[in-house]
Amino acid sequence: MAPQTAVSPAESKILHCYVQKTPGSRALHARAITLLNNGVTHVGRYLEPHPVYIERAAGSRKWDVDGNEYVDYFGGHGALILGHNHPAVVEAVTAQLPHGVHYGASHALEIEWADLIHELIPSAERVRFTNTGTEATHLALRVARAFTGRNKIIRFAGHFHGWHDHVCFPPGGAAGIIPGIVEDTLIVEPNDTASVDELLATRNDIAAIIIEPTGATFGHIPTGGDVLHRLRATATRHAVPLIFDEVITGFRCSPGGAQQFYGVTPDLTTLAKIIAGGYSGAALAGRADILSVLDYRHENGRIEPPPVLHQGTYNAGPVSAAAGIATLRQIRDHDVIERANRTAAAIREEMNATIRRRGLGWCVYGLFSDFHIYCGDASPEDIYAGKVPSCQLKGSIRPELVHKIRAGLLLHGVDIMGWPGGIVSAAHTEEDVRRTAAALEATLEMLQAEGAV
Ligand SMILES: Cc1ncc(COP(=O)(O)O)c(C=O)c1O
Repeated sequence: MAPQTAVSPAESKILHCYVQKTPGSRALHARAITLLNNGVTHVGRYLEPHPVYIERAAGSRKWDVDGNEYVDYFGGHGALILGHNHPAVVEAVTAQLPHGVHYGASHALEIEWADLIHELIPSAERVRFTNTGTEATHLALRVARAFTGRNKIIRFAGHFHGWHDHVCFPPGGAAGIIPGIVEDTLIVEPNDTASVDELLATRNDIAAIIIEPTGATFGHIPTGGDVLHRLRATATRHAVPLIFDEVITGFRCSPGGAQQFYGVTPDLTTLAKIIAGGYSGAALAGRADILSVLDYRHENGRIEPPPVLHQGTYNAGPVSAAAGIATLRQIRDHDVIERANRTAAAIREEMNATIRRRGLGWCVYGLFSDFHIYCGDASPEDIYAGKVPSCQLKGSIRPELVHKIRAGLLLHGVDIMGWPGGIVSAAHTEEDVRRTAAALEATLEMLQAEGAV
């Protein structure tokens, strides 16, 4: 079955060459679309005319079924700050496997894992493990509601907190979301702390404020430290729990996440990705008094169940714990974050130089181990000065163009995410920087030749 695509490979040299280079992936995709929706398992992995099918990965690279090599900027959706198959993680996991993968019981590794999280993340007085970032933000909101006895949450438009019902719809709602949940979710514009102030001053039904502390999609719409300080002040004034969703920023902006970098301690923190070193694992961490809603109670000599029930077959699995401990130790004891940040800065610089050489007004921006491609006319300075409206940062790039940029970069050996942008690891090298700039140059040349930009 041939997939439906918006732009046919026959009309685009980029797509045509991409199809020629990836016949094995094309064949697998033809089979996949008969079984998996769109042939994929995550909306972020959808690519027209077809995605690449990867066979193996190491360090900063991965290889597809046709033997093509890519510099990888997906980085396990941000989980792999050490790169693929870091020896310390491989060793920890390999050592654990013969001891069992699921005990259905407590084990010492979960304590060691929680202890490292407590040591690194300033707000982590207590830790409750989950499997995914989505589960962690879901639990955070439920815990905040139970603790405050209030229902409504405030979140920021475009900020990503996973795919559970409370966080995955734009203002107005979306298919499949119960109207009551839409009513109980107050969505304000990114960085609009004045609206948050007003909501907290005029209502007494707010259970929590949740934010991605570096801004929507790891800083695609940037949020500065001043916004976080203002939110902290207003949340404290009105006794409303402030939740930092550090699923992507945790252990990446600094060992203690964005909260340590900006010096703002939230009441609750959600963590995932790096926390488990590429395996499934996540956590809700935060104030002991708030997380106590997860505790069994003793009343009149009886054991009462916790006010908030939280289960999960795979919570704190020993393999994930082993990988997480090995990863967090690397971050605590070595210059992992600095290396990733330095390489990302070099990538942004080289990509910007390439864009200027091609005579385009676009720019590449980012502050940590990230890069974001803006396909309008602006400089990184304009973006950080707030001169580009958030709707423009997120919504101005036509999906067809994003698909062509991604396919063009894949054609030249680089895999980026669909923001469009990417996440850099400590395993990326100067050679990766050079390859990335060359791939962008070749892609832009082809895009310009076919009048796509
Ligand atoms: C900030 C943020 N929150 C939550 C999530 C959801 O995490 P998961 O994909 O593990 O459910 C993500 C995933 O990318 C994220 O970046």
